[in-house]
Amino acid sequence: MGVSYSTFERLKSKGVTAYKKGDYAAAGTFLTEAAGCMVELAESSDTPELRRQREEVAAELIDLAKDCKRFEANPEGGRFRQRAKEDEESGAAASDWIVQDKPDIGFDDIAGLDDIKQEIRLKMIYPFSHPELAAKYGINIGGGVLLYGPPGTGKTMMAKAIAHEIDSTFFVISPAQILSKWVGEAEQNVRKLFEAAKQHNRSVIFIDEIEALVPRRKSEGSTVMARVVPQILQELEGFDRKGERALLFVGATNKPWMLDEAMLRPGRFDTQVYVGLPDAPARFRLLEIYLADRPIAADLDLGALCDRLDGYSGADIKNLCMQAAQMAFMDAMGGGERLITHADMLNRIEMQLPSVKPGDLVRFDKFKQTGR
Ligand SMILES: Nc1ncnc2c1ncn2[C@@H]1O[C@H](COP(=O)(O)OP(=O)(O)OP(=O)(O)O)[C@@H](O)[C@H]1O
Ligand SMILES: [Mg+2]
Repeated sequence: MGVSYSTFERLKSKGVTAYKKGDYAAAGTFLTEAAGCMVELAESSDTPELRRQREEVAAELIDLAKDCKRFEANPEGGRFRQRAKEDEESGAAASDWIVQDKPDIGFDDIAGLDDIKQEIRLKMIYPFSHPELAAKYGINIGGGVLLYGPPGTGKTMMAKAIAHEIDSTFFVISPAQILSKWVGEAEQNVRKLFEAAKQHNRSVIFIDEIEALVPRRKSEGSTVMARVVPQILQELEGFDRKGERALLFVGATNKPWMLDEAMLRPGRFDTQVYVGLPDAPARFRLLEIYLADRPIAADLDLGALCDRLDGYSGADIKNLCMQAAQMAFMDAMGGGERLITHADMLNRIEMQLPSVKPGDLVRFDKFKQTGR
């Protein structure tokens, strides 16, 4: 019989309470125990992602517990102590999630996915470049977008590109943060996040791997994670979409059927876009993106490779290009400098099957049709 999720939450919140009171000795003990629980929970996770998320949480808790030991020795010092105080007194916590250095990837770096790019322009770019027309036609600004589809198709990359394309403040919330930092305060923190977003003209809130926020077992029922996303969506509903300020909430998942139905109701994620395997033009573009800047031989036939790569994801194609480059690189290091050839690519393709199986796609078709 393994540990239960509620045991973790109890230890964790005792630790956080002690931490805030400045009782670092007790905090360190509770947080270490909570981390231990999380390690056990990680081991019993159903999926590798959940396991990774939980291991991350455990690692954060251990760091926090180590800080406690340090503060215990030196009670006056410590930036964490300062931070905890600020969090309590003001809305400072929300600034933790603002991404200062925006990603350097734009829409042009993404092959295909044109309907998604267009959707984002309609929601966040055109209403600002053409405000009178937007008002005349009653166009809503911002809203919720759910990106779903098989692994390696560019969902995370797309979210980063959105941050780059739109001149906005970018908030990223990781499930690990929600787990480890928000215990007992999730509701207040969501409110703070929206307060912070309202201070900016344009904001994007991004949650990746959003399915990790959904409890898998009944025993994990009313956890902090299960409450946070619906609350975000509720706040979003209350956000004035004709106003001066715009807010875009982007969620990404490769297991949309695990999401709570409340999240998928109309008016919540009002746009749900399937991010699928690349079609022929997108595969061609992927080959261009990932081979163009490398030394390639004249015999390299992108069109033929493109046909051969039906069923491969963007991430697969990127990998194949990299591996082909590595083969040529190794020869070059051995003194035989040469170009990357068509045969290099075919070689790698033969050795690697597509990472997404046709059977996986059936599950997505079902979700597209039935919404579950
Ligand atoms: N359409 C694309 N255009 C360009 N590069 C892509 C595309 N799709 C995938 N890639 C490459 O593959 C890598 C992995 O893609 P990404 O992490 O965005 O996939 P994902 O859809 O978020 O997958 P997961 O569901 O596993 O999180 C990207 O960093 C990018 O380099
Ligand atoms: Mg991803």
